[in-house]
Amino acid sequence: MDTSDRQGDGPPEIDLESVDRVLRTTRSVRRRIDFERPVEPEVLNECIEVATQAPTGIAAESWRFLVLTESEPKRVVADLYRSALESFRAARGGEVKGAQRALAERLHEMPALILVCCEGRPPSDTLPRSLALQVGFYGSILPAAWSLMLALRARGLGSTWTSLHLLHADEAATALGIPEDVTQTVLLPVGYTKDAVLRPAARRPAAEVTYWNGWGREQP
Ligand SMILES: Cc1cc2nc3c(=O)[nH]c(=O)nc-3n(C[C@H](O)[C@H](O)[C@H](O)COP(=O)(O)O)c2cc1C
Repeated sequence: MDTSDRQGDGPPEIDLESVDRVLRTTRSVRRRIDFERPVEPEVLNECIEVATQAPTGIAAESWRFLVLTESEPKRVVADLYRSALESFRAARGGEVKGAQRALAERLHEMPALILVCCEGRPPSDTLPRSLALQVGFYGSILPAAWSLMLALRARGLGSTWTSLHLLHADEAATALGIPEDVTQTVLLPVGYTKDAVLRPAARRPAAEVTYWNGWGREQP
């Protein structure tokens, strides 16, 4: 399929309604998942193919995707996630939202867990170099993770952006054989949605969070 777009010849032939619908309704899906229905590896590969069209600093393509579909690796990661959630809850001295607890409880049953990794370690330096390096490092991987969520959503698959298991990243690396010079980022639990109603979230309007020509200034 030729998906190239010529620019400068008028509006591209893109179905804006569908594109915006996917962008506006890619919600966290934690409970409304068909736990019995496996996710085809071809579909996951297709989504990862789409995700790797994301921007990549110095064209390094340092992304690596670790897809877990077998019970044992899923169980290990789910246990680490649950332990992290418990520490998080204890540290905040509060309750965890029902949906978040529900995800944790059934994480090992998710048809697939995708761990989005990045070759290399987050750079450390002093400001302002550190800021540029950190933004470059994470900016070369997190857009791909979001593209992956969008591609999944467009194919009827639900997922959730999670990072809690990273509290136990070292244990996860040991269990999954992830090399020391690879950084784990987002963990996406993935499955076909079941009875999920995905609608735009209530977010502050663009005008409230956008400044023009100087911080705090309104659109002319
Ligand atoms: C940086 C980041 C970390 C997150 N970590 C978790 C997590 O560990 N577990 C979880 O259930 N949700 C996690 N979320 C999902 C947010 O809770 C969710 O995006 C938010 O509640 C808004 O809901 P929506 O995704 O349906 O719009 C995370 C989201 C972000 C951006």
